[in-house]
Amino acid sequence: MFQMVTNVEDLNQHDALVLGIFEGEPFHEEVEKIDKLLAQQVMKLKRAKKIAKQGQTTVLYTLGNSQVEALYVIGLGKKVESTTESVRETLASVSRQLKEDKISKVAYLVESLASEQVKKHDIAVLIGEALALGTYTVLNYKEKNNEVEVSIEQVALLGEEDLVGAARVGYIYGQGTNRARKLVNTPGNLMTPTDLAEEANELANEHGFEIEVLEREDMEKLGMGALLAVAAGSDQPPKMIVLKYVGDPKSEELVGFVGKGLTFDSGGISIKPRENMHEMKMDMGGAATVLGAMDIIGSIKPKVNVLAVIPSSENLLNGSALKPGDVITSLSGKTIEVRNTDAEGRLILADGITYAKQLGATSLIDVATLTGAVMIALGDCTTGAVTNNNDWMEEVVEASIETDEWIWTFPTYAPYKKMLKSSDVADLNNAPGRLAGSITAGLFIGEFAEETPWVHLDIAGTAWQSKASNLGPLGGTGAMTRTLAQVVINKEK
Ligand code: BES
Ligand code: MN
Ligand code: ZN
Repeated sequence: MFQMVTNVEDLNQHDALVLGIFEGEPFHEEVEKIDKLLAQQVMKLKRAKKIAKQGQTTVLYTLGNSQVEALYVIGLGKKVESTTESVRETLASVSRQLKEDKISKVAYLVESLASEQVKKHDIAVLIGEALALGTYTVLNYKEKNNEVEVSIEQVALLGEEDLVGAARVGYIYGQGTNRARKLVNTPGNLMTPTDLAEEANELANEHGFEIEVLEREDMEKLGMGALLAVAAGSDQPPKMIVLKYVGDPKSEELVGFVGKGLTFDSGGISIKPRENMHEMKMDMGGAATVLGAMDIIGSIKPKVNVLAVIPSSENLLNGSALKPGDVITSLSGKTIEVRNTDAEGRLILADGITYAKQLGATSLIDVATLTGAVMIALGDCTTGAVTNNNDWMEEVVEASIETDEWIWTFPTYAPYKKMLKSSDVADLNNAPGRLAGSITAGLFIGEFAEETPWVHLDIAGTAWQSKASNLGPLGGTGAMTRTLAQVVINKEK
């Protein structure tokens, strides 16, 4: 898909050339060359402030005066203020425009987009990433859905240095994210625990991962009382999905990802209000993130070992459903009093974490759409974190800075931990109250991580966007997919 081209003159059949113009800066020399062929029209339009406003893209047709048919002129704002984030957003909206314009071949004047902060290599990664992210669409199931989709097939990077590898990496990151988005956006009836296991199976086949899917009987034998308790209220069989990628067979180190795979959360007997309950098909967002990250890892193949564990169930209510007041015994042996059946994520994750440890995980990251409270605290742009190990947290935060996915770490002082122990009849209370809801939810999971370095990422706010953004449409965002992959890839460095 990606190729290098050194001169504009060498471009052929490329429908469009994307180039950047910074505010108050002279044109890049290649832009100037093209502009000469166009009787300095670009410069004139810029002076008249008709093009190149920040974040805006203008299509200029060259009417046979240049090799390329059209210029996509993007306004990049002040050069000193350019960031990977702003460039990603701008390039993603350009990608979407290219798709809408049914462009199948495009070239990028890489250098014209670069700055001191965002160098050519980063630009190439961002071009790849933005091509995937910006063109993602949510599948619909309408009877008349016969629009022919034209996808971008050829991408030329104009410049001296070979940046094809970088662009490919970016594209892989974007595609992994889109894979997570797709899982999140799929309706609950079409994305049951069985379907999720099937997706994991496909991923394993694509990348050669080891896979194991535990069935209800296996869970009963092993004593996964917490996952089984949540699954009791549903006719859909639960699954414990395990993938393993071995990139460094000699190493004992095994990074464990644990993703919440709740394919629909009605709340159970502690039922949720009816408004917006349909959005709870996204409650397998953590699982989607983990699978998306495994997709990236499987393509990049770093010399690191990774385990992915996904406890998956529905949270519904039938005559056998889990009830408030029930006491259950988790895989770890710890008992839990269920004060609220809607706090089900931490229950299935408890067994997921314990199982990951049993399978040899030496460090853990769990990802979950865990609490409404995290949205109150941080909104929908920042993921909330809880940890038992500051060094491991630091590694995750560093990765998230590279991917521009924001994380905020919550405090874990002793009084929060004490709140979990407020049951008279069991070791733990699954719903100790409204206060510090995201912290106590995270720390509940931490009780099962015990001494193993662990980071918890609450993506209840970030996994879903209620309106389209530059990076993607309304719905699943694939939040933290790129960060999880980056954490693992950084270990190789
Ligand atoms: N899946 C929800 C959390 C959630 C809420 C995700 C909104 C995305 C959007 C989780 O299972 C849940 O219901 N949490 C409860 C916990 C409470 C009962 C302690 C919540 O946040 O209200
Ligand atoms: Mn719930
Ligand atoms: Zn839930």
